Amino acid sequence: ESTLGAAAAQSGRYFGVAIAANRLSDSTYATIAAREFNSVTAENEMKIDATQPQRGQFNFTAADRVYNWAVQNGKEVRGHTLAWHSQQPGWMQSLSGSALRQAMIDHINGVMSHYKGKIAQWDVVNEAFADGNSGARRDSNLERTGSDWIEVAFRTARAADPSAKLCYNDYNVENWNWAKTQAMYRMVRDFKQRGVPIDCVGFQSHFNSGSPYNSNFRTTLQNFAALGVDVAVTELDIQGASPSTYAAVVNDCLAVSRCLGVTVWGVRDSDSWRSEHTPLLFYNNGSKKPAYTAVLDAL
Ligand code: XIL
Repeated sequence: ESTLGAAAAQSGRYFGVAIAANRLSDSTYATIAAREFNSVTAENEMKIDATQPQRGQFNFTAADRVYNWAVQNGKEVRGHTLAWHSQQPGWMQSLSGSALRQAMIDHINGVMSHYKGKIAQWDVVNEAFADGNSGARRDSNLERTGSDWIEVAFRTARAADPSAKLCYNDYNVENWNWAKTQAMYRMVRDFKQRGVPIDCVGFQSHFNSGSPYNSNFRTTLQNFAALGVDVAVTELDIQGASPSTYAAVVNDCLAVSRCLGVTVWGVRDSDSWRSEHTPLLFYNNGSKKPAYTAVLDAL
């Protein structure tokens, strides 16, 4: 195959990309994105601050630009993200207790009903665990509403759009030996045992010198899949874009039948949130990097 998306489709998977609405007018960017990928995640446009800037006033202008571009170009869409401590609008940051809990529920219902039946996977909850060795939940205004906020979010999401796969998504959970990975594993196991509706786990996979790729990532994916959830690599970027590391990540996904696909977090290095890491598959001029070829060959 000659594109990443077509190559991934040979095994029933996708190869996706994060898209920024304001870059779609850049023809180099849009040409690569349309050609190479068969899944799209909005990099920022479906987040809480973008979709509900004022309480009760939903705005899907930018989100729909990404969504409509994706569908017009034949791609499926991952929804990102409904409940998160970051990129909250000011009105939500200032809420607490039952008012915040209700606002979270209302937000999930508002966004998911707008896209009902149209989203392959939703990142219902993002980044709820703390970094480091504690294995604890991250302290946040959402966590302070009660630690059941995550299961409430998933139950709300299932009722709002029964057709979407519901994912929990986090970073620094790729290495099986990390406490954060183990904490996330215990939560997913508990949710499956108690019938909390969760369908998938997203591994962001922002690899860098501080949190490098480890070959036990495959074990992690396998162990989560064995709990009865799908897994996905949701925001892949690799500091320095080592071709062999990119190929290893792809091979880890391909080795796990419940791995749905891989999404890279941007098109060219200059589009990356960490552009100084030159972590992506395309040079700034739009040409393919060695990591691109390594990924295509691995798929
Ligand atoms: C990042 C975007 O790439 C940036 O443009 C934005 O300024 C901050 O958020 N984890 C996530 C993503 O789940 O939503 C983040 O995206 C990167 C880390």
